[in-house]
Amino acid sequence: MQWSVTQGEPAGIAGDLLVVPVAEDKRGPNLKAVLALIGDDGHLAKVIRRGGFRGKVGTTLPVNDARFKAGWLLLTGVGPADEISLDGLRRAAGTAALQARSMQARTVLVMPLAVDGGFDAQTVVRCWVEGAEMGLAPAGPADAARLAEQGPRRWKIVTGRGGDGPELQQGLQEGQIHAAGCLEARRLVNLPPNQLTPRALADYTADLARDLGLKCTVLGPPQMRRQKLNGILGVGQGSRNEPRLICLESRGAARGVPTVALVGKGITFDTGGISLKPGAKMDVMKCDMAGAAAVVNAAMIVTRRELPVRLLAVVPAAENMPDGQAIRPSDVLEMAAGKTVEVVNTDAEGRLILADALHWVCTRRPDYVIDIATLTGACLMALGPDFAGVMGTSSELMQVLEQAGGETGERVWPLPLIDAHRETLQSKVADLKNLGPREGSAMTAAAFLSYFVPQDIAWAHVDIAGPAWTEKDGPLGPRGGTGFGARLLARTVELLVS
Ligand code: BES
Ligand code: MN
Ligand code: ZN
Repeated sequence: MQWSVTQGEPAGIAGDLLVVPVAEDKRGPNLKAVLALIGDDGHLAKVIRRGGFRGKVGTTLPVNDARFKAGWLLLTGVGPADEISLDGLRRAAGTAALQARSMQARTVLVMPLAVDGGFDAQTVVRCWVEGAEMGLAPAGPADAARLAEQGPRRWKIVTGRGGDGPELQQGLQEGQIHAAGCLEARRLVNLPPNQLTPRALADYTADLARDLGLKCTVLGPPQMRRQKLNGILGVGQGSRNEPRLICLESRGAARGVPTVALVGKGITFDTGGISLKPGAKMDVMKCDMAGAAAVVNAAMIVTRRELPVRLLAVVPAAENMPDGQAIRPSDVLEMAAGKTVEVVNTDAEGRLILADALHWVCTRRPDYVIDIATLTGACLMALGPDFAGVMGTSSELMQVLEQAGGETGERVWPLPLIDAHRETLQSKVADLKNLGPREGSAMTAAAFLSYFVPQDIAWAHVDIAGPAWTEKDGPLGPRGGTGFGARLLARTVELLVS
């Protein structure tokens, strides 16, 4: 979609629909502000009162008004006037965008700055673009074709007196980059796993690297064998689709800028392996590479925004399948770090591939390491679908992630990680086992990973088993992959380096 800034009286600007955000007061919609803005002859106020529209986020009221060149107004709720949030603005934008689509509006005018939530104009414009783009994400290839034919195509930010400052252009550009990262992560998660194999994910990443001017390294099984990446090799050995280790890296970062490593779980499909999962809803396990999708697209956002950082984005990619070659419960793997691991359950595969990837990237001595993974069903059970869990050894890093998530609307919540969790992983036959007790398994999964990160490197682990996937259509996207993590990680990097 195309975005631009237009100055002038809203009534005189051509288009198919004028979106007007409306805040909610104690007694209903805050009409004073709206009417002052768009002018009224008394008729509009009556129509709005009759419409039963209060200004809640997620609600809209279309009003036909011939005084406007656009013909139609779309009042869009942004919630209580004293509690306007960035996430509320995004959801309002997504709601308006979906309504604009159903009204077959091609050119949409928006006045995002008409309500004052206390945010600067650049931020408001950015969130509005993010919300509209995310809301209109197609539900699949067929929907994408329909959307291109009938959906909104041009968006004009109408600024009234505010003018067309460079900060608005900046907001537009940032919003489009962030949305593109989120949507692309989603698209990857939604791809069928026979198409998005580890090799396809590596090819995709290499192409992206070429476009962005990043360095891309891909290790296949022979190179991985040489580096004893037996966690990744072991998990991948039951599949005809061979594993890969993919690494994206910034080129030519200035001296003195921090090195941030992002590691994303890239299980392109998780059957559980020999510890096979039940059949019901197993299809959703195509989302088990959502961490990889987040990391690769965070690298895209960070690069296109030219943030001053040396970024390492690492994806261990494998398919967890049961066959005659597959690893079995009671196998012992000697990991790249030299530690041996007893495989008690082949469905706890994420930690095996991440352990190798974390060790591998830590030999580069980054200042910060963040891994992100659809790691445990327990994290989904504990926090529900709207929160990621965050654990780690650096409370600074965990707090930055929490702040970033509060801003991007990808919320993370801390879970504990102490030595007692680490101790549950003692094995009789190896240095560690890959399974702790059933209770608290989000934390023991994180504890397992902690053995593969040197203690002097700041590390945080983000478990996105909950928010990576949604079963419901919503204002910020349809059922399926959510794209969770791409904007979160990019914003985290931005906070770390600024
Ligand atoms: N990929 C799954 C975790 C998952 C569950 C992601 C639900 C998204 C939604 C992971 O590999 C897994 O199977 N975890 C097991 C671990 C157990 C064997 C310790 C789990 O959570 O049951
Ligand atoms: Mn699993
Ligand atoms: Zn998994």
